[in-house]
Amino acid sequence: MKIALVGYGKMGHIIDQIATKKGHEVVARLNETPTLENLNNPDVVIEFSNPEVAFNNIKVCLENKIPVICGTTGWLDRKAEIEEIAVENNSAFLYGSNFSLGVNLFFALNEKLANLMKDFSEYNIQLEEIHHTHKKDAPSGTAISLAEGIIKNNERFDAWKLEETLNEELGIFAIRQDEVPGTHSVYYKSEVDEIEIKHTAFNRNGFAVGAIIAAEWIIGKSGNFTMNDVLFNKQ
Ligand SMILES: NC(=O)c1ccc[n+]([C@@H]2O[C@H](COP(=O)([O-])OP(=O)(O)OC[C@H]3O[C@@H](n4cnc5c(N)ncnc54)[C@H](O)[C@@H]3O)[C@@H](O)[C@H]2O)c1
Repeated sequence: MKIALVGYGKMGHIIDQIATKKGHEVVARLNETPTLENLNNPDVVIEFSNPEVAFNNIKVCLENKIPVICGTTGWLDRKAEIEEIAVENNSAFLYGSNFSLGVNLFFALNEKLANLMKDFSEYNIQLEEIHHTHKKDAPSGTAISLAEGIIKNNERFDAWKLEETLNEELGIFAIRQDEVPGTHSVYYKSEVDEIEIKHTAFNRNGFAVGAIIAAEWIIGKSGNFTMNDVLFNKQ
């Protein structure tokens, strides 16, 4: 597989190393807007850049009919537009707020627990995420996915809010610490006890491996996909 890396920062470098070890060819490593020339004819683009540039980067690739795996978070207000562009161009797009296998299992567990807890309003729900201090967006894309999984399964909530809350709102508490790759916790707290589920990433390799698996999977497909399609609905 010929991969173009759009965004060659912390994630781009790790994906480069792991993809090369797996026998893939990295044909472009870009820290600038992709063009047909600088992309160098890839089979797939893996995009880990930043929230300000992701929309345009993805658009350029999809309009050139190159499938895109995107891990950049913090630009999701324009995701529906990108999904239309993918369909109009008969191309393929996959956004993952988190590519690691563990977090995708955690997403499924979170939804099951939310469903189990939906009738027990004596439990207040709180989300917490901890990331490194360089992270540009808050809350994390992963925390937003967790919140959406709870909202889908519990009628008490129709939105999340970026703060700790003891009210009938789903609060996300975002903490920034030095070089940590990412921790997410969901707490159900009553007057008498607390249930907590937690995922801790030890390093960034899990995100990179998942993004490469998604890239291998998407080639030859058209439409819009998630990691759920890759990991749990294999076709
Ligand atoms: N989905 C996941 O599993 C996952 C995992 C880790 C990080 N992330 C997200 O991925 C993104 C990148 O993370 P990172 O840690 O590699 O960040 P980083 O800051 O180390 O790297 C971003 C790179 O993008 C480059 N860039 C700037 N403008 C660009 C442009 N116009 N086109 C292409 N590249 C450009 C920068 O020069 C930089 O090298 C962030 O949004 C982060 O939150 C997602």
